[in-house]
Amino acid sequence: MFISNIKIDGFKNLSDINIDADKRINVICGDNAQGKTNLIEAIWLCSGLKSFRNSKDKDLINLNCQSFNIEISFENSFRKQNIKYKLSKSNLKDKYIKLNGVPLRNTSDLFGNLCCVVFTPEDLFISKGSPDNRRKFVDICASQIKNSYRRVLNKYDEILIQRNFLLKNISIGKSSADELDVWDEQMSRLGSYISVIRYAYTKKLNIYAARLYNEISQGKENLEILYESSVFDNLENRSDYNGEMANEYLSKLKKARQEDIKAGFTTIGIQRDDLISKINGLNCREFGSQGQCRSVALVFKIAQAYILFEETKEAPCILLDDVLSELDNKRQDFVLSRISDMQVFITCCENIKLNGNKGRTFYIKNGKIINR
Ligand SMILES: Nc1ncnc2c1ncn2[C@@H]1O[C@H](COP(=O)(O)OP(=O)(O)O)[C@@H](O)[C@H]1O
Ligand SMILES: [Mg+2]
Repeated sequence: MFISNIKIDGFKNLSDINIDADKRINVICGDNAQGKTNLIEAIWLCSGLKSFRNSKDKDLINLNCQSFNIEISFENSFRKQNIKYKLSKSNLKDKYIKLNGVPLRNTSDLFGNLCCVVFTPEDLFISKGSPDNRRKFVDICASQIKNSYRRVLNKYDEILIQRNFLLKNISIGKSSADELDVWDEQMSRLGSYISVIRYAYTKKLNIYAARLYNEISQGKENLEILYESSVFDNLENRSDYNGEMANEYLSKLKKARQEDIKAGFTTIGIQRDDLISKINGLNCREFGSQGQCRSVALVFKIAQAYILFEETKEAPCILLDDVLSELDNKRQDFVLSRISDMQVFITCCENIKLNGNKGRTFYIKNGKIINR
């Protein structure tokens, strides 16, 4: 899949953007604070996911404008498609979103059409940072493949909030412990399902990432990625999330109940799970060097793109926001060569060397594309 044209106006500092994109590499070059990341963010928004910067809807509209307009034309092997996305300050609740002329109710309905993989400098710390980032990574990846998974996650989050609220009330004597039963049962089924999906994704990720890591380390090191569940000792060959697994989950919740009441939150469950990266058997989080952690981050992202390609039969668009300049030449070449059959948008401050890779460079200043 590739984007053929992008029009943006009134989105943050961007105005009058009209880009005919190259099928391969698009370099967005400009000084700091000129609107490079804003452009990547606008594309990403059309993939149906929330802003990777956690921007609020109203902050997406230019301070001096009443609304923004984004229009993206893209093509896959079957057809040309078009997304129109408009948001007005006067009506923030009512987004105007059209896919191929057909109005959609929510941003999330865009999901699964324009598939993107975004890579930002913060992602470089994925193997070092908190487990939260790794859970988020696997959840985004899995929901890109299975749209309905996002709804299950949202439902689980709602229940977790309710349960934690109840735990606090129980600890101050305002509610009774039996009231937990109804939440525990729902949580067990949803949590088991989420465990199955995450485990399956992690297994796939492990296959691709291990191969890629072997290449980037020139066969010197091996990488293994494991899903660490706080509930299940073993997830291999398990799929009965409404039966046996849910019962096991439920009994673990029951066992932890007193501790949960004391703590005032739910101490076990998928919100405590993690993705472990081991290099030559050692946990990267504790023992990885900066270079190793960067390599792990790269192979995570490339593997995400490959799995998306395999599952959807379409190459995703790769959005590299300011990451290439963070990498040494060897790693830059590695990334570009491994995604050579995909469309890429690269933002950077200086003109980067494309090393024979063909592409187009756009210069951005003060939110506008300029000639140079
Ligand atoms: N709602 C907004 N209206 C106008 N300008 C904005 C808005 N939100 C962010 N900006 C501006 O966007 C610029 C940052 O753009 P960004 O894409 O992050 O820059 P960079 O080129 O460094 O990636 C800043 O100058 C900021 O003031
Ligand atoms: Mg930026």
